[in-house]
Amino acid sequence: MNFQDIESQYKQVFGGEEARIFFAPGRINLIGEHTDYNGGNVFPATITYGTYAIASKRSDRQVRLYSMNFEDKGIISFSLDELDYVEDHEWANYPKGMIRYLQESGHNLSGGVDVLYYGNIPNGAGLSSSASIEMVTGVLLEGLFNLDINRVDMVKIGQQVENQFIGVNSGIMDQFAIGMGKKGSGILLDCHTLEYEYAPLELENEKVIIMNTNKRRELSSSKYNERRQECDEAVQQLQEQLEIQTLGELTEEQFEQHKHLIQNETVRKRAKHAVYENQRTLNALQALRDKDLNRFGKLMNESHLSLQHDYEVTGQELDTLVEAAWDQKGVIGARMTGAGFGGCAIAIVEADKVSSFIDGVGNVYQDKIGYEASFYVASIGDGAREIESEEVVV
Ligand code: GLA
Repeated sequence: MNFQDIESQYKQVFGGEEARIFFAPGRINLIGEHTDYNGGNVFPATITYGTYAIASKRSDRQVRLYSMNFEDKGIISFSLDELDYVEDHEWANYPKGMIRYLQESGHNLSGGVDVLYYGNIPNGAGLSSSASIEMVTGVLLEGLFNLDINRVDMVKIGQQVENQFIGVNSGIMDQFAIGMGKKGSGILLDCHTLEYEYAPLELENEKVIIMNTNKRRELSSSKYNERRQECDEAVQQLQEQLEIQTLGELTEEQFEQHKHLIQNETVRKRAKHAVYENQRTLNALQALRDKDLNRFGKLMNESHLSLQHDYEVTGQELDTLVEAAWDQKGVIGARMTGAGFGGCAIAIVEADKVSSFIDGVGNVYQDKIGYEASFYVASIGDGAREIESEEVVV
């Protein structure tokens, strides 16, 4: 697949001439997992895999969407006057939700659009393909209609699509990372204040490896929402003595002093993860600033253990990958990334050990799980934007 393939597909489907190209990446999260909706810190980075969109304006009020990843669905079309969720529109509900909430927030579209999407984020891998579709739609509408949209507002509209249109109660990390990502850097984001800073990942002799369990994340949204509820329950019980709105406001010491207020042991473990992971994320940023990559790696490992034993969102597949990764030569650190329950893990590995690392982990996984894992070397790229055809790397 190359740009010409995508462009000729666009012409075949829509016939238009004057189309422009937009891209939004997927993301990995280096550390700070299940902390965003707890008002805590996250540290994601955008990768060079993502969603391409070729788009042009229409003179009527029709929206026509086509995805090369779901060709059997054909063209999905609707009018700008009918922007309700339609189950049968499947993937197209993500762009539809963006169009709806952008308009509701005052950004009027003067007409419809034709858009062809092509994504190369591994399917169902927990690398935020849905946020990538949302944000590429945001930037294409912004570009085609000359809208003046504050980028953080666009990020919030993406989250609103997930929460209200799709019905997944996710936090702001994915859309924020994808909307604001920067080549070569992670973004430390405080999800309570939305203050953020870029931290360069100066990996001279190391690579970030993405390890895909190839396990589809079924049931993940109900488990995800269950974790959110458990954290809310913990906050309510802590509020008996503490004036907090989120777990992200607590230091580890405050948590230890007050954890007895949380009656249920499972809920206490969930809260412990959120509080400690939040601090670990700040410690990881500090380690990076100190150029102490080994310490960063240890914090990644601790993060995984906490997600495995206290937050319980890993599962056999992710644990197998990460534990096998820890056993390999040249590994600096490894952990699951994203929501969990399947999806992907990441590892930082010395560059000259990458191929033995992949062989070693791959063999253990195949033996234990019975099917293959996939591996990708991640490059950290820029966030959502309009691009030139030369920049299309599929
Ligand atoms: C998913 C959600 C994010 C975040 C992560 C877990 O990716 O979309 O908001 O909660 O899980 O850190």
